[in-house]
Amino acid sequence: MTESNPRISKAVIPAAGLGTRFLPATKATPKEMLPVVDKPAIQYVVEEAVAAGLSDVLMITGRNKRPLEDHFDRNYELEEALSRKGDDHRLKTVQESSDLATMHYVRQGDPRGLGHAVLCAAPHVGDQPFAVLLGDDLIDPRDPLLARMVEIQEREGGSVIALMEVDPVQIHQYGCAAVETTAESDVVRVTQLVEKPEPSEAPSNLAIIGRYVLDPAVFAILRETEPGRGNEIQLTDALQKLAGDEKIGGPVHGVVFKGRRYDTGDRGDYLRAIVRLACEREDLGPEFRHWLRSYVTEEMQPN
Ligand code: UTP
Repeated sequence: MTESNPRISKAVIPAAGLGTRFLPATKATPKEMLPVVDKPAIQYVVEEAVAAGLSDVLMITGRNKRPLEDHFDRNYELEEALSRKGDDHRLKTVQESSDLATMHYVRQGDPRGLGHAVLCAAPHVGDQPFAVLLGDDLIDPRDPLLARMVEIQEREGGSVIALMEVDPVQIHQYGCAAVETTAESDVVRVTQLVEKPEPSEAPSNLAIIGRYVLDPAVFAILRETEPGRGNEIQLTDALQKLAGDEKIGGPVHGVVFKGRRYDTGDRGDYLRAIVRLACEREDLGPEFRHWLRSYVTEEMQPN
């Protein structure tokens, strides 16, 4: 790697959305703080960034999002109390989140869409490629995705998005990509992007999921991007411009993800994430699986 192409080190985590699908829980609590087993969803996301080598994290927050900052800060009173009790295990778990990464915060003001949230990161990011991880999208830590995306960006330049095959009838819930294959089975070249298309108009069943490695050229495009679907400034619309003209910010590639992913902003997926991760935990798993098995076989039988 050359001086002019330093390793990607910055991660941006948009977490300023209103979380309306989770009301009333999210009236005063950010949805990213809802626990997945015993850790807030957002901590998994920050841990994922750090695991991919990105230890400079900028979180895009808004009103009601103060708990996010507190979670990644020290809590001396709590640490002192646990220390006095000699509870080293819990003390460690409390300190873990504040020692994870170098955290920065910027407020979005009005949540005018994901594209607008990403634009708020421009002064911090500068002119280097950077990663974006959606704060409510949880990728199972055992199925690394971001490190592969960083690798492709560092090799090919331009931008890299994460794609996942979905049932064609669900494609209207996602941004959708038209692609060309490459020599690597998990990497495609993106030729077109459409935000939430009707199934009959979707160019594929490849949905955009919440991980991106972006060329900083996206900022100039976002500044010019008019509000689109839902009257929000859509990141997908800006990425479509990048994909449509390689001269602006290089090519757009996609990494096709086949691992486990949960949209923790969706109630059903949130519950599935908790059950799955709880089942697989060494400490909770054996007892929880035992209970779950009997719940499913005995209590869920039709009468
Ligand atoms: P969502 O589409 O899930 O929207 O945003 P939302 O407002 O958070 O949730 P619902 O649909 O009302 O339940 C995807 C990601 O983009 C962030 C969200 O925090 C989430 O991580 N986002 C969205 C922003 O940071 N700012 C925005 O203006 C919109």
